[in-house]
Amino acid sequence: MPQETGMMSGLVQEIKELKEKRGAVILAHYYQLPEIKEIADFVGDSLQLAQQAASVDADVIVFCGVYFMAESAKILSPEKTVLLPDKSAGCYLAGQATGDAVRARKEEIPGCVVVTYVNSSADVKAESDIACTSSNAVKVVNSLPEDRPVLFVPDRNLGHYVSKKTGRQMYLWDGCCNVHDKLTLQEVEASRSKHPGALVMVHPECRPEVIDAADYVASTGGMLKFAKESEAMSFIVGTEQGMIDSLQKLCPDKEFYPAAQHMICPDMKFTTLEKVKESLEKLEPSIQVEPDTAEKARKSLSRMLEIV
Ligand code: 13P
Ligand code: SF4
Repeated sequence: MPQETGMMSGLVQEIKELKEKRGAVILAHYYQLPEIKEIADFVGDSLQLAQQAASVDADVIVFCGVYFMAESAKILSPEKTVLLPDKSAGCYLAGQATGDAVRARKEEIPGCVVVTYVNSSADVKAESDIACTSSNAVKVVNSLPEDRPVLFVPDRNLGHYVSKKTGRQMYLWDGCCNVHDKLTLQEVEASRSKHPGALVMVHPECRPEVIDAADYVASTGGMLKFAKESEAMSFIVGTEQGMIDSLQKLCPDKEFYPAAQHMICPDMKFTTLEKVKESLEKLEPSIQVEPDTAEKARKSLSRMLEIV
């Protein structure tokens, strides 16, 4: 056995033992490194992970993802210890809005309902009426009273997509994800020419012109379902590259090509096996959310979970 593989299987064994000792469960997002998804008890998209966090029967959750995901898990399960193996794993998009700025904007739109994409801080969720993820945003917006203006925070591309799908005018926050917003129409067209016959799937965080040019628009979980059920045999994938190995694993006889080589979220790659092991040993870094903020943010997350 090569030395590196041996070291890795030793680490995996140690993680398994520690997990049992701590009564822990490991949740991982699809964008995580393959070896992290391999040791996870559950791998999912943002919505599926929030649902797991709210319902899982474990004392400790090791969240292999980025800060806002672990923070949402803590808000939904305050009695549990929620560990984020690398506390510096952030989300560029979540950094585009603050609670104070949302509060100020709300005052400019009297009577508005604030819909907040989960890729946001607890402070922002606390200023919101309801949360959403990329897989339920259309449903969430469709559930709102028709006579109230809607402020959609913080992703303008997702907001634009939802507005088009629901036919509802919304006030859009001017934020974006620096991984998805960088994918250009020219890159999508170049991928199509390189892989004739492949279907283009893109995430709704992509720009409107990229979304319009795609064959299918979905969350990460939605892309997996579509690829599995589609009769097509090859796909161009317009989201973070971590999806490629998850898609390939689910559909080993199909082909998947990244829409652009630059679509990598560095923060999603901060989690390593060593850091997972260390977090289980020390029960750190443990996520804490200020109780008042957590209570308000929980309402917006719980409302979302009630309607999906
Ligand atoms: P999903 O909700 O589709 O998993 O997306 C999360 C995310 O961070 C997209 O960049
Ligand atoms: Fe945030 Fe974009 Fe990374 Fe998703 S891909 S976690 S939205 S920075």
